[in-house]
Order: sequence, then structure tokens, then C-alpha cells
Amino acid sequence: MSDTKDALTGKTAPKFQPVKAKGGAPAFFSAWDLHAYYGESYIVQGVNFDVREGEIMALLGRNGAGKTSTLRTIARMDNPHLTRGEIWLDHQPLHEMKSYQAARLGVGLVPEDRRIIQGLTVQENLELSQIAEPKGWSIERIYEHFPRLAERRNQEGTTMSGGEQQMLALARILARDIKLLLLDEPYEGLAPVIVQEIERILQGVKELGITTIIVEQNAIAALNLADRAVILDMGEVVFDGSAQEVLDNAELRQDYLAI
Ligand SMILES: Nc1ncnc2c1ncn2[C@@H]1O[C@H](COP(=O)(O)OP(=O)(O)OP(=O)(O)O)[C@@H](O)[C@H]1O
Ligand SMILES: [Mg+2]
Repeated sequence: MSDTKDALTGKTAPKFQPVKAKGGAPAFFSAWDLHAYYGESYIVQGVNFDVREGEIMALLGRNGAGKTSTLRTIARMDNPHLTRGEIWLDHQPLHEMKSYQAARLGVGLVPEDRRIIQGLTVQENLELSQIAEPKGWSIERIYEHFPRLAERRNQEGTTMSGGEQQMLALARILARDIKLLLLDEPYEGLAPVIVQEIERILQGVKELGITTIIVEQNAIAALNLADRAVILDMGEVVFDGSAQEVLDNAELRQDYLAI
């Protein structure tokens, strides 16, 4: 087997090997036997799960469990580097794509650090999302769902509060035509009142039937929103079931979520 050099670390990681872990037809979204590395660090260690169309799945687990790495693998970022497995979205092979192709197909990742573009107003940040076709929500529609952004449309995005920047990061993704929304810690570092406001917005997104994977340390908030839950531990799936099962199972929460 030949190896590929990792762009970030210069170290070698094993070459990609597709594998049909389960066989049969993929679900609307399927991750099958994903293995991914940062350089030589083996992080995502055989992750499997499906998400049905319109479903909200909470991807939970302790710090360092591999949640962000799994989202980045799905969004086809260069790091971590996928070495094995298949990722399907609406019958398309994401595992064969680069991040820009995944984005074009409709994968919308809202990263933990939000990545608001400096020097641009709220409105300009939103307009930039709409340069590429196909477009998602119109800017008018975004302002209806995000009144705080409407009030601040001429403010420079990076000067807004953390909660407002989180709203802009989400709005920017909705301005594109997405099939799969990936949220990494949308409530992180936010005051409870802002968390409630973002929860209301996400509830609205849920009613529109956008298939979503939400990673969140605030597991209770994520489980209240989600239909299903997958718990990761040390790069592997240790639970896959309904969100209600996790809410009802104190032992499971204590073992893997420390809540
Ligand atoms: N760029 C990187 N290079 C090397 N190792 C990394 C890199 N990013 C993350 N890791 C390691 O991968 C493992 C999983 O990290 P990841 O960020 O996916 O966890 P997480 O579940 O999102 O944690 P948290 O809840 O703290 O955000 C950790 O051991 C982490 O140290
Ligand atoms: Mg993380």
C-alpha cells in the first residue's frame, strides 16, 4: 500500500481505501466505517451512523472524543485526512470529494470559531454567501428569522457579540442551498438568554426539515432539539439511539457525557 503525505504535518498517512461497511443502499446521509488521521495521529476510528432526511442528530461525547474531527471529515476538510470509509449524501459519494465540492453539493458546516469575515458588514457577509449558485434563503427571509441581524445589517460582522456572530455564521450557511447542516458547538460561550434565542432559531430550521448534525457540550440543549443521538468516545460510536433514550438514561449520560 502506498502512503500519502499529509499537507499540514508533512508526515505520511495511509492511502484512502473505500469500503462498504454495511453494504446495501445508503440512507439520506450515511457515514460508513470512517477512519481519519491528523498526520500520524489516528483520531476517527471506524465511525458509522445514518441520518434520515429531515432528522436532527445530536453528536455527543466528552472533550476530545472526536466530534469536531468527525464533522470536519464529513465536510471533507483536508484535516483530518480520511483514509477509509464511505460518506453518502443524497446518493452522492462525499468521500470522493474535496471540501469545495461537498459545499457545492450542500454540506454546510458552521465551525466552532464562526469565521466571520473581517472588514465586511453583516449584509456583505450574507451577500458573499450568495455569490455561488444555488442560493438558499433570500437575505430578506434571513432578516425575518434573525431580527438581530436585520438591526445590525450595516455593522461590521466581527464587532458583534459572540451570540450575534453565531447567528451570522448560521445565517450565512442558510443563505446557501444546503442539504446537510453541520453545527459545531453553536451554544459555546453564550449567555443563557442568547442560547434560548439560538434554540428558537434552530427550532425554526428544524420545522423546515433541514437535515442537521449538531455537536454540543450542552448535551441537554442538543437533546431537546434532536430526534436522535450518537455518542462518540475515543473516536468510536458507543451509542446510537433516540435522543429521548439518552435523556432517560442517567448512567449513559454519566459514563460518556459526564452530566
Ligand atoms: N489538528 C490536529 N492535529 C492533531 N490532533 C488533533 C488535531 N485536532 C484535534 N486533534 C486531536 O483529535 C482528538 C479529537 O479531537 P476533536 O477536536 O475531534 O474532539 P471533540 O470531540 O470535538 O472535543 P471538544 O469537545 O473538546 O471540542 C483529540 O485528541 C485532539 O487532541
Ligand atoms: Mg470539538
